[in-house]
Amino acid sequence: MSMTFQAYLEEKVAFVESHLVAGLEKEGVPVNLYESMKYSLLAGGKRLRPVLVLATLEALGQPIERGIPYAVALEMIHTYSLIHDDLPAMDDDDLRRGKPTNHKVYGEATAILAGDALLTRAFGYIAESYQQHPDVKPATIVNLITELSKRAGAPGMVGGQMADIEGEGQALSLEQLEYIHLHKTGDLLVASLLGGGYLAEASEDQLRALHDYAVKIGLAFQIQDDILNVEGDAALLGKAVGSDGERQKATYPSLLGLEQSKKLLRQLIEDAKTLITEAGMGNSALIPLADYVMARNK
Ligand code: IPE
Ligand code: IPE
Ligand code: MG
Ligand code: MG
Repeated sequence: MSMTFQAYLEEKVAFVESHLVAGLEKEGVPVNLYESMKYSLLAGGKRLRPVLVLATLEALGQPIERGIPYAVALEMIHTYSLIHDDLPAMDDDDLRRGKPTNHKVYGEATAILAGDALLTRAFGYIAESYQQHPDVKPATIVNLITELSKRAGAPGMVGGQMADIEGEGQALSLEQLEYIHLHKTGDLLVASLLGGGYLAEASEDQLRALHDYAVKIGLAFQIQDDILNVEGDAALLGKAVGSDGERQKATYPSLLGLEQSKKLLRQLIEDAKTLITEAGMGNSALIPLADYVMARNK
């Protein structure tokens, strides 16, 4: 990672983090529920989805501030998905973002409810924040909510999670595995790029390029997640390694082997960068962000 890109990333992450807690409702909320939501939302993490929203606005010449409510909402949904993903009924993990998982600290019932509340709040926060925004049209707010609900819901992330759970211990085809990755992980990245595009009032061509770029880096992101689960460093990752093998998850390394998985990963990132360059956004941070998806070690 070049120093300038690292500085860019740090600055954007800090900007997003300074806005996260303000998105939560506190008034009238049971203390344990609020604390549990805040615990996971502020536990760190790469904040990739929010940064992608801001980078998209920037790539299209619009102020990044406009992306904040949507970026915060995406991070709420992503955080809820991690809380539920770690539950004993799902991946049964004890460590996340370098800390004990939500249910380890607050108990399963509270962890489930904190996830429910983060998911619900995300949509309310988008509606509430943009309603007061002078540069965001009502039709754009409707587009954001429609897109995000589809990408986060049953045809999107939740559907991918379902297929992931059903695929445990099964010999999946590459096509089935691709479905899982595109949905459980890819769809929230697609929602990040398209949301940024809607907020910037991107053209149809630009939206298509942003969508296709997101599909490529989304698949690549999950392939790298699978690779890191095999050869990553748990201390850096802040979560367990080797768990996919233990739970007999279908992964790219298990299906294709490590070398082929890495080759596919490189190809996806090259393709993603080409798409963005051809759409006239080649000078933006979307280029080093694609490399970051591949080179990350946490
Ligand atoms: C982890 O996502 C879950 C996947 C979709 C692979 P991230 O790797 O973005 O997790 P954080 O937000 O940095 O903790
Ligand atoms: C997580 O996928 C995807 C979602 C939470 C939607 P994984 O289960 O593969 O990710 P990690 O390795 O626990 O972060
Ligand atoms: Mg999982
Ligand atoms: Mg998991």
